[in-house]
Amino acid sequence: MGPVVSGIIPLKKQEEQKIAEKIVLAYSGGLDTSVLIKWLQENYDAQVITVTVNVGQQEDLKEIEEKALKLGVLKHYSIDAKKEFAKDYVFPAIKANALYEGKYPISTSLSRPLIVKKMIKVAEENEATGLAHGCTGKGNDQVRFDISFASLAPDLKIIAPVREWNMTREEEIEYAIKKGIKVSSAAKKYSIDQSIWGRSIECGILEDANKEPPEDAFEWTVSPENAENTPEYVSIKFEAGVPTRLNNEDMEPLRLISALNTIGGKHGVGRIDHIEDRLVGLKSREIYECPAATVILEAHKDLEKMVLTRHEVAFKQNVDSQWTFLAYAGLWNDPLRNDLEAFINKSQEKVDGEVRLKLFKGGLQVVGRSSEFSLYDKNLVNYNIKTGFNQSYSKGFIELWGLQTKMANILKQKISKDTEAELT
Ligand code: ARG
Repeated sequence: MGPVVSGIIPLKKQEEQKIAEKIVLAYSGGLDTSVLIKWLQENYDAQVITVTVNVGQQEDLKEIEEKALKLGVLKHYSIDAKKEFAKDYVFPAIKANALYEGKYPISTSLSRPLIVKKMIKVAEENEATGLAHGCTGKGNDQVRFDISFASLAPDLKIIAPVREWNMTREEEIEYAIKKGIKVSSAAKKYSIDQSIWGRSIECGILEDANKEPPEDAFEWTVSPENAENTPEYVSIKFEAGVPTRLNNEDMEPLRLISALNTIGGKHGVGRIDHIEDRLVGLKSREIYECPAATVILEAHKDLEKMVLTRHEVAFKQNVDSQWTFLAYAGLWNDPLRNDLEAFINKSQEKVDGEVRLKLFKGGLQVVGRSSEFSLYDKNLVNYNIKTGFNQSYSKGFIELWGLQTKMANILKQKISKDTEAELT
């Protein structure tokens, strides 16, 4: 037997064997992620590759790229994913009537799995060793990034320094200045996240849940009082549950959504003030501007009510809210989402037709709808026309429909009479 070889590698050797870290970072160009580049370079001795995915955040991508390169990243990727986002993320959300807690169209949540998908492609191309994000430990985004990273690239390290470094905003600014990172003089009032599906606004004065949001929080919508003085009508055509035509003009998903953001915005439609339950247990006050989402979801829900049976509608509400929860909760890659989508997509085969809406001073109403799959029959409900609906059947129906309710009440009365008699 030869000598026993110790499993412990001497420190010096370990140093030599240390694999250089190559980290792909989701980069927005803001303070947090800019500080992160330097922090990763110093604390991880890492080469940093930055990725900015364009989901419609309306920022200067060239400027973001220049900033990243100036901070010494190995490479920067600017990826235009707007069309893919509209088709593969927003459209399924429309079919699912996705409103988290009945109010928020999950515009931020939906973009996260797509950003991760693009980051992982970059990581594979560059043989990266880790994936990093700049989310804090208080929000939902860390959950979405971490779970998507771990699901799609289980072998890569997950690095989330903002969760651990415990720097206050002032300390971060100080660090940034020391490292030569440009800090915008007008320290941002709000934390903002944008995609084509909406604009999320939080922090600052908005944290006072009892205060009306100041006008400067809004960019996509005018206030109802400043909105146009004449109402505007729009008509949206849906095919298999997704919008394909606006005001009789065929449109690609991205164009249709942008057009409705503009129209909704100028009528003050789509402002949302939400007390929201975050995954980490906190309640937060969030403001959103989602004009297109508000209009499209309202129209879609209305059309579904016309073409689906009451049983389909009722069952689908549960499926929709479960789908929305998965997308909100960082579980986009859970197999259940695809299972639910199998049902949702099947149900959408009949969601074909046109919905007309009226927008005026912050208000939105559906004013008309039509579909070749309509279960609504004007003649059938009209009292003045003789149809196949035999009213005399209703008497017997009511008898049976109310049978148990009637019995329960008769029994209740009998019991209370009996106890009264016993007491006297
Ligand atoms: N609460 C929303 C979500 O978790 C939006 C979060 C991002 N908001 C922001 N202003 N940065 O999806």
